[in-house]
Formats: sequence, C-alpha cells, structure tokens
Amino acid sequence: MKDLTLNAQSAESIIHCGAGTFEKYAKKLAEKQIYVVTDSNVFAIYRHMMWQTFGDNFPVTILPAGESSKTYNNLIAILKDMLKAGMKRTCTVVAFGGGVVGDIAGLAASLYMRGVHLVQIPTTLLSQVDSSVGGKTAVDMCGVKNVIGTFYQPEEVIADPLFLKTLTDREIRCGLGEIVKYGALDGGIFKKLKLNTARLTDYDFLEDITYDCIAHKAKVVCEDERDLSGKRKSLNLGHTTGHALELFYRKKSHGEFVLIGMFYELYIAEKLNICGGQYAEDIKNLILCVLKKIPVYENIEEAAAYAVYDKKNEDGNVSLIVPKCVGGCAEIKLSLSEYTAFLKECAKKL
Ligand code: GLY
Repeated sequence: MKDLTLNAQSAESIIHCGAGTFEKYAKKLAEKQIYVVTDSNVFAIYRHMMWQTFGDNFPVTILPAGESSKTYNNLIAILKDMLKAGMKRTCTVVAFGGGVVGDIAGLAASLYMRGVHLVQIPTTLLSQVDSSVGGKTAVDMCGVKNVIGTFYQPEEVIADPLFLKTLTDREIRCGLGEIVKYGALDGGIFKKLKLNTARLTDYDFLEDITYDCIAHKAKVVCEDERDLSGKRKSLNLGHTTGHALELFYRKKSHGEFVLIGMFYELYIAEKLNICGGQYAEDIKNLILCVLKKIPVYENIEEAAAYAVYDKKNEDGNVSLIVPKCVGGCAEIKLSLSEYTAFLKECAKKL
C-alpha cells in the first residue's frame, strides 16, 4: 500500500495505491453524505461489497455498462437524482467503476451546486493507471468524444488491485494499452516492461506497474494540469490515430486502439527518422506482446479523416505524439494528406 500526492494547481489529490486500500479508505467515506455512480456490470459483481461498505441504503445511479452511457442525458439524470436525494454542497460523489463512470461522475461532481467532493474508486486496469487520476471529466456529444467536460481533481483515488481479479482478459489488455504508452514515456517503466514481458498480466506485476504509471501521470499533471504548456499532451502518445480508428471502427475498446495507434505512429516516427533501431523494435515488441496482431484495416484513409477532430491539432495539421528514445517522446505535425499516406503505407505492410 502506497500513497501519492498529486499537487495540482487547482487542488490536491491523494492517491491510495495497492492491495488493501479499498478496505482501509472506502468505509470512511460513508461517515458523510455520499452519492455513488456506478454501472450495471460493476454493480452486479460488487453490490454486496458496496452494501457492506456504504450501508444498504445509499443513493446511487447505475448506468448501463459501456461507452454509450457517457451522454449529456445521463449526466442530467444523475444531477436530477442527486437533487431528489437531498444531496448537500458538502456531499461526496463516489465514482465506482471504470473510465465511463469516472468521467461522467466527475463531471456531475464538478457541476452540482458548483462543485462537491469527488472520490474515484477505479475498478478497471485502464481507469486505475490513467483515467481516474488527473481530474479530466467529460461526456460525449454529437459523436465527438469528451466534448463537454471540466478539469476537476478527485480528493482521493482508491486504486486497489482487488478489482482486477474480476476483469476479462480483454479488459486487462485494454489497461495494458495505456501501460505500454507509459513505457514509451518513462524510462523506468520501459525497463520494467521489457524485463517482465512474460508476466505482464500477473497480479503482483500489475499492482507494481500501476503505481509507477500513476506516479508518472501525477508528475505530468502537477506541471500542466490544464493541458496548456504541452507537457500533458505527451500523455496522448498513440492517441491521435487510436481515437481516429476508435471513432471510425468502434469495434475494439480504447486501450486496444491506443496500442494500434502507437504501432502506426511508430511507423511514421521511423520513416521520419525520429525513432529507430533497437528501441523502436522494443516498443513494437511490447505492443505485440499485448495485442499479438495488428488488424489490417480496409478504408484506413476514411478512418484517418477522423484525426482532424484531435484537440492537439493546430493550423490544420494533424499532431502526433510519438516515441523518440528511452524516456523521451516527440511531437510530429503532418498535413492530413501526408498523415493518410503514411497510414496507408503502414497498413499495406501488415
Ligand atoms: N489521459 C490523458 C490525460 O489525462 O491527460
């Protein structure tokens, strides 16, 4: 069990990492007024644990599980229910679930009565290593991801690996997508991943590497909480292409698309002599350790067109954050036609 403090400009966030943190910190939350947001899958598995921890009568919204719940209508439904349940300005919203729950509950907490306390209890590997930390909240609108949102730091994050035990292989793979991204940003994480390719899904290894990823993210968010100076942008490595493919194909989940995006963007980085040699091979190997095979996409140029929605873009160019060297990344800016040509070339070689 280890704690980390994220000293963001707007507020401090305490992150409790490791086995036993749920038991140690969650019960205390119910000493005050709480409102829980969760989803149908998580509630089905953990409802007894929630009753034991928060009592058998806590107010709760149970969203249908899945990305399509991240809507404005569900946000309003949560806020209305909080009002109906008599939630006060001093209440705490507890986001108990994966990235979708964390994003929408965080947004509700930031809006209700101009902001109430927020605690994140991430239950997926992806939300533990990335989305529950750093204060980004959002819902989607008109098919565009995260278009309504705020920066709002949770007061606490309880990242307990006990929740990883009920995840499917695919959910673990999704979390590993973000973990490999951290490997491309942080020399220490890269070395650990490289040394442990045979045990990437081991519970103890995941507990250890989760702490490292959160520590990396906390450092970046402290320096650039609102994504303004360019530092936080690095956390989007692989995401430009990942998001574009995700918007177009929609068949896989976020973490898998991040890995596929990293693979394509690494190809571009190699072509432009930004990354290469053994390091590029090592990153490719890590991607393939998790994903086994990069899917061959027909119509990749149509998917590439979705990259224009990426929020990093400036001056009509597509911005990519790519691996450069151990612990270092670089930003590439390409016209949409150059970018599309590279993706097509890479797809042909698969
Ligand atoms: N997941 C990227 C960020 O929090 O900035």
